Amino acid sequence: MIDIRPMLESDVPGVLAIERASFPDPWTEGLFRDELGREDRIWKVALEDGRLAGYGGVMIVDVEAHLMDVAVAPEARGRGIGRALLWELAADAVAAGALRMTLEVASSNETALRFYRSAGFDVAGRRPAYYPSGDDALLLWSRPLAPHVSAKRVALKRRDLILAIESSCDETAASVMRGGREELSSVVASQVDFHARFGGVVPEIASRKHTEAIVGVVDQALETAGVTFADLDAIAVTAGPGLVGALVVGLAYAKGVACSTGLPLIGVNHLEGHIYAARLLDPDLEPPLVALLVSGGHTMLVSVPEWGRYEVLGGTLDDAAGEAFDKVAKLLGLGYPGGPVISRLAAEGDPKAIPFPRPMLRTDDLDVSLSGLKTAVIQYVERERREGRELRLNDIAASFQAAVTEVQVAKTLKAVRAHDAKAVVLAGGVAANPVLRGSLRSALATEGVALSVPPLELCTDNASMIAAAAHDALRAGRFLGLDADANPAMRLGRGA
Ligand code: KG4
Ligand code: ZN
Repeated sequence: MIDIRPMLESDVPGVLAIERASFPDPWTEGLFRDELGREDRIWKVALEDGRLAGYGGVMIVDVEAHLMDVAVAPEARGRGIGRALLWELAADAVAAGALRMTLEVASSNETALRFYRSAGFDVAGRRPAYYPSGDDALLLWSRPLAPHVSAKRVALKRRDLILAIESSCDETAASVMRGGREELSSVVASQVDFHARFGGVVPEIASRKHTEAIVGVVDQALETAGVTFADLDAIAVTAGPGLVGALVVGLAYAKGVACSTGLPLIGVNHLEGHIYAARLLDPDLEPPLVALLVSGGHTMLVSVPEWGRYEVLGGTLDDAAGEAFDKVAKLLGLGYPGGPVISRLAAEGDPKAIPFPRPMLRTDDLDVSLSGLKTAVIQYVERERREGRELRLNDIAASFQAAVTEVQVAKTLKAVRAHDAKAVVLAGGVAANPVLRGSLRSALATEGVALSVPPLELCTDNASMIAAAAHDALRAGRFLGLDADANPAMRLGRGA
C-alpha cells in the first residue's frame, strides 16, 4: 500500500539517504530544511507499507509549478511510486493555482526523460552546458494539468485496473482486467466473415473494420466491467507484430485516450500476450517454460526462463501452422478459416491413410517447414483428380493433420529437453486443434512435463492476454511515449 503525505522535518534524515543514493550532487540537509519553511513550496513523501520510499517537491511560481526534485529509494523503484508522487504534487499544484508543470532534466539522463515523456511531458527547449558536468539541460513542460489530475488521483487508490486493446489482425478486442489476472470484461468483435470470401485476411478491410468497431468495443468492455476511464490505472495496446494498418487503429485510439485522460500508455507485444494467456488460466504457472506459439501468422518455439524474458528457439521457415491449415482447406474448397473444418473432417478420417512427408522431423534445429507438406497435399489431390478418383476428404484431413502434429510435437520435446523446461504453454489459434493438444499432452507426460493450454477464447486473439502482459509492464513502470509508432515486425524479447 502506498501512502502519500506532506513532508515533515522528521522525514529529512530518510530523505537525505534516498537523495544521496539517487544523485551525483545531492541536496544538503540545510537546503531541505530551508525548503520546508517556505510558503510557495509543496513537498511530499511516499510511504510504502509505512516505510519512506520516495519524495518530491515543487515550487509554485504564479501559474507554473516548477518540479525541483523527485527521487525513489533504489529498492522501491519500478513500482510506479515516482509517478504517484508526480501526480500528487500536480494535484496540489493545481489547487494552488498552477496550470502546467515544468522541470529540467540532463540530456544524458535517458531514464528520467523516458519517465517524464510517458507522463505526458514534452521537450520545449535546451540550455547548453547547464550542468557542471557539461551536460545540456532539457526544459520539459507538461500539458495543461487540470483535466489530467482527477484521473491520476483515482489511480493512486491502486485498484490496478487496466483497459487493453488488441487490433493486430482481424479481431477488434478490448478487455478490463484487475490485478493482471481478474478479467472484468472481454469483448471480441471478429471480422472473419468479411474476410472469408477472400480466403484470408485482407489488410485494408481489416483496418476499416477496426476503425468502425473500436469505439463500440471499448465502450462495451468498460460498461460490462462497470468502470469508466477515470477508474483506470493504465491503457494498454498491442504495438506489434501484426498488420500495420490494423495495429495503428488500436494504437492511435489508445493514444487518444491516454492523451485526453492522462493515463499512462503501455505497449504490448502480441506474441508475449499469447504466452501470458496461459497464466490467466493457471496462476501457479511458473518459468522455466517453453511456449509453442501456433497461429495463422506465427509458428515458433520460445524459451521463457522468467516472465518477461524470451528466447526464440526456432520457428517456421515458410508457412505458419494455421496458414498451412487455411491453404489446404482452400485447396479442398472448404472455406476459411481452414483449421476448424479440417480438424472436424479429420475426426472421421484415418491419419495413416496417406503418407504425407514430415519435413525437418529429424533435423537438429528447432525449426519447421510447412510449405513442402502443403505442396505434397496439392500434388496428391491433383493426382487423385487426374486419375478420376473421388477425394477422401476425411483421410486427407486426418493425414495432413497428423503430419503437422508429429513435427510440432517432436520439436517441442526437443526444446523441452534442451532447456530443462518444467512446463509447456500451447498458444495461438491452432492450439484449438484437439489432436495437437492430445498428442502434445501425452508426449510431455512421459517426460513429466505439464502442458498448459488456455481455453479456446484465450488461445485465439483477445485483449485479456494483452492486459495480462501489460500488468507486469505497469508494475515495472515500462510505458510508451505518445509519439510511439506501431511495429509490424516487432520481435519477442525486444521492443514493446
Ligand atoms: O491466433 P489466431 O486466432 O489468429 C492469428 O493468426 O493471430 O489463429 C487463427 C488460425 C487460423 O489459421 C485457423 O485456421 C487456425 O488458427 N485454427 C486451427 C483450428 N482452429 C483455428 N488450426 C487447426 N485446427 C483447429 N481446430
Ligand atoms: Zn494472435
